[in-house]
Amino acid sequence: MSKTLVVSYLPNAYSVTKKTLDHFLAKAQGKTTIVHRDLVKNAPPSYDETSMTAYQMRGFMGKTLTGEHSEAIKPFDILIDEIAGVNTVVFAFPTHNWSEPGVVKTYIDAILQAGRLIMYDAEGKSHGQLKDHKAVVMFASGGIYDEGNPRRTIQAAFTFYLNAIGITDIKFVPVGGTLMGPEVTEKNLAAAKAEVDSVVKAWY
Ligand SMILES: Cc1cc2nc3c(=O)[nH]c(=O)nc-3n(C[C@H](O)[C@H](O)[C@H](O)COP(=O)(O)O)c2cc1C
Repeated sequence: MSKTLVVSYLPNAYSVTKKTLDHFLAKAQGKTTIVHRDLVKNAPPSYDETSMTAYQMRGFMGKTLTGEHSEAIKPFDILIDEIAGVNTVVFAFPTHNWSEPGVVKTYIDAILQAGRLIMYDAEGKSHGQLKDHKAVVMFASGGIYDEGNPRRTIQAAFTFYLNAIGITDIKFVPVGGTLMGPEVTEKNLAAAKAEVDSVVKAWY
């Protein structure tokens, strides 16, 4: 059976993104094995001086890590091994100040490592290592940011992040207008659930 990693940061008890994710989980049940990385309960590691030195040594200088550097990079490698070991990744988080919340970006910075998920060839060209992975990115926002709106940053950013590690098959499931009244929210949530249905049908 395929494996799906859910990376969520959903601290809001009234989360609309969570409703979208719960719909996905109900539809995907029995079709894939779910691994859940809950960033509310387990914050991702951020770099300190030792782990950043380890990153530089391994990622850009081609060194084999030992001692404190080998230890310091382990929490990052756990996340990298986890995402490398699945077929599909689902991201679920709210829009905070026109972007993914900082905790989600910390997760992205932890896994987008040169020397692991991004390899450089002799010409300096980068190669993402997760070429067979697929991804779904779910995110609610209080406002509605249409195509071309400069505030629509999450879709552009996640396209860059995921392309960098080799994932090009990406579906975006936004739920806009959650602060524009219940009718708007329900309408856009229904559209998001329909999108989830078509993703599950196509991928599992
Ligand atoms: C700290 C914070 C920042 C927010 N920034 C934005 C924003 O930039 N744009 C927007 O449309 N909504 C913004 N909102 C509203 C949320 O995106 C909205 O409530 C959304 O439904 C959150 O997702 P959730 O329901 O899954 O928690 C913000 C909310 C909070 C708490």
